Amino acid sequence: MKPICLVIGAGAGIGGNTAHRFASEGYHLALCRRSNQEGLNNMVKSIKDKGGSASGHILNAVKDDCIEDVINTLESDIGAIEVIIFNLGAQIGDVSLKDLSYKQFELGWRMATFALFRTASTVFPLMEKRGKGTLIVTSSTASVRGNPKQHSHASAMGGRRMLCQSLNAEYAPKGIHIAHIIVDGAVDAPDTLGRMLGPKNFQKLKESKGMEHDGLMLPAKIADTYYHIAQQHRSVWTHELDMRSFSDSPWWNDNNNSYI
Ligand SMILES: NC(=O)c1ccc[n+]([C@@H]2O[C@H](COP(=O)([O-])OP(=O)(O)OC[C@H]3O[C@@H](n4cnc5c(N)ncnc54)[C@H](OP(=O)(O)O)[C@@H]3O)[C@@H](O)[C@H]2O)c1
Repeated sequence: MKPICLVIGAGAGIGGNTAHRFASEGYHLALCRRSNQEGLNNMVKSIKDKGGSASGHILNAVKDDCIEDVINTLESDIGAIEVIIFNLGAQIGDVSLKDLSYKQFELGWRMATFALFRTASTVFPLMEKRGKGTLIVTSSTASVRGNPKQHSHASAMGGRRMLCQSLNAEYAPKGIHIAHIIVDGAVDAPDTLGRMLGPKNFQKLKESKGMEHDGLMLPAKIADTYYHIAQQHRSVWTHELDMRSFSDSPWWNDNNNSYI
């Protein structure tokens, strides 16, 4: 039976590329995303066309029970979840405090932090029994830096980072590897950044910063790092890692991109 790699947030960027990378290494890929059934079907098909194994699940991670149901169904019907790529973003856009409703604020927290807590609460007892498992959490600059109009996103991502540290403190000694990845730059991700900017501006960004400039982070290259982390020997586990393009300033200098 193939080990399962569950990707929560499997769009065409980091989630999908990581899925392809793990599938090529022999994992069964369980792919979850919120809305795009056709995109999901295409991803499952392209993994299968390359000889891999995959299944797709539409779910909205902010709704009750859906994450728990997918994890329990995979464990009972397919096999053990060895790796989880928790890849949900929590960006609700730039909203100043006076315009930010309680509901919008809470939505960021539901995606960034509460959904991660629910995932860990459901799967860690199973991993603990097996004495192994890996949780790789994609995060962003907002997990380490607040910005104007980022009240929801930054507080939610900061909470995500602290949750990862707390999970690590309790579960690393039990054999579960938790890694928090600070993606400190714009990713060539059509389903998230592309959607947020709109096709025209995304194309402009690609032409000015991406392509031969290598200033947009390539999700396939991020996927290589994720695979490496999942294979690390437990004597050298990475808990936190940051990455950015060579041409971007890191978050602690003058990189002022609030959308990451
Ligand atoms: N893109 C960037 O520039 C950038 C920069 C810094 C950090 N990040 C981080 O990277 C991660 C995302 O990776 P990515 O940008 O490359 O995107 P991606 O892997 O292409 O797609 C992520 C997918 O998550 C799904 N999703 C969002 N909310 C969901 C929900 N409530 N329930 C279920 N699925 C949901 C979306 O599905 P649907 O499309 O079906 O709605 C989306 O396609 C996030 O953690 C984000 O904070 C991204």
